[in-house]
Amino acid sequence: MTQELRRSTAADTEWFTRDRFGLFIHWGIYALPARHEWVKQRERVRDEDYQRYFDHFYPDLYDPEKWAREAKNAGMRYFVVTTKHHDGFCLWDTDLTDYKVTNTPWGEDLIAPMVEAFRSEGMKVGFYHSLIDWHHPEFPVDGLHSRRDDTEYIEANKDRDIARYREYLHGQTRELLTRFGRVDVMWFDFSYSDRVWGGKGREDWGSVELMEMVRELQPGIIVNDRLEIGGDLKTPEQYQPRSWPEVEGERALWEACQTLNGSWGYDRDNLDWKPVDMLVRMLVDTVSKGGNLLLNVGPNARGELESRAVERLRGLGEWMRLHERSVRDGTASDLTPPPDCRYTENGNRLYLHLFGWPFKHVHLEGLAERVEYAQLLNDASEIEMRVIDPEQQAQNTTIGGIPEGTLTLELPVQRPPVEVPVVELFLKG
Ligand code: GLC
Repeated sequence: MTQELRRSTAADTEWFTRDRFGLFIHWGIYALPARHEWVKQRERVRDEDYQRYFDHFYPDLYDPEKWAREAKNAGMRYFVVTTKHHDGFCLWDTDLTDYKVTNTPWGEDLIAPMVEAFRSEGMKVGFYHSLIDWHHPEFPVDGLHSRRDDTEYIEANKDRDIARYREYLHGQTRELLTRFGRVDVMWFDFSYSDRVWGGKGREDWGSVELMEMVRELQPGIIVNDRLEIGGDLKTPEQYQPRSWPEVEGERALWEACQTLNGSWGYDRDNLDWKPVDMLVRMLVDTVSKGGNLLLNVGPNARGELESRAVERLRGLGEWMRLHERSVRDGTASDLTPPPDCRYTENGNRLYLHLFGWPFKHVHLEGLAERVEYAQLLNDASEIEMRVIDPEQQAQNTTIGGIPEGTLTLELPVQRPPVEVPVVELFLKG
């Protein structure tokens, strides 16, 4: 009764569709201005002014083991970190530029200890790498660039050579895929060939050759869909798809990437934080449509996850502690859930996630003959089931008008004390 992934890919996706939940980490020198990872672009900051963040980068409280423990405890099983974001700053000791962490006051590679810490928690490793680079001297200025309105700057830099930038991009990708052991996900970001003047895409990045190299260096790696040549993984961003995303009419491997507050990078004055129950519903909604959730944190410039982020990871962790089996290795069901509910399915178990807590009854169409036992998942307390005769007329306390084949569950008035209550249905063989 499950809906299956249709689209085949060269990548090793079994772990991915089992794990379902990962941590996205957006970190870099934009944590110092602390007002979104696009601050350089939004405020048209010149390199010489942005340099002060490079010169003061010193995350003395950086403790990747702590991050890995918080992520593992939240129920996450893989992570994806920004090795370089659009501002061009590199978090590892690359040979190909001086614009790297080892030249800041911190002076050390940040990626190797992070990979080690997450691996030691048994988590898979992913690298986000920006195709865009608002610092590189050969990256042609375009309508998205931080100096897009500076005609003098544009004139002075009109002879930039994208081929030389492409070489740099491929060279750094090779470094990332040969220096840190097995890499499970490569998350490039992003192509925009038709969005602004001078927009860039597959030709600019040499996407076909880049993909070939990535697959050669890391067979089985999952590559996202932002090189403008398809890829293995659809990546809807900051919205929840209405249904399982398809490519050429086939259900695709997909992953929703979401923030805790609308910003990927640390954003000090941002108050738009999502509550834990919304985050749990986003995770459930994603798995109920056959996808993964990649949930983001933006560590601050001291190298810490701020308390508002830790609170939410721990809230997710508390729900996962009781409800993990309703999402882990779960997928979409071909049954239609009641209003304001979601179904996830795993083998002979169907999980009814109740986003709203109805009074006394929930009616499950099509399940009358298919369920042998039901219980609340948080405490394994039995949930009574009955099949109401479709001919029965409504009269006083007697329910009527229930369609043929419906299974009715009797719910307690009190909503279980969990972010999203779940009824576990044991399906007949
Ligand atoms: C978008 C944002 C970028 C972010 C990425 C994550 O491309 O522009 O800042 O890193 O999404 O999905």
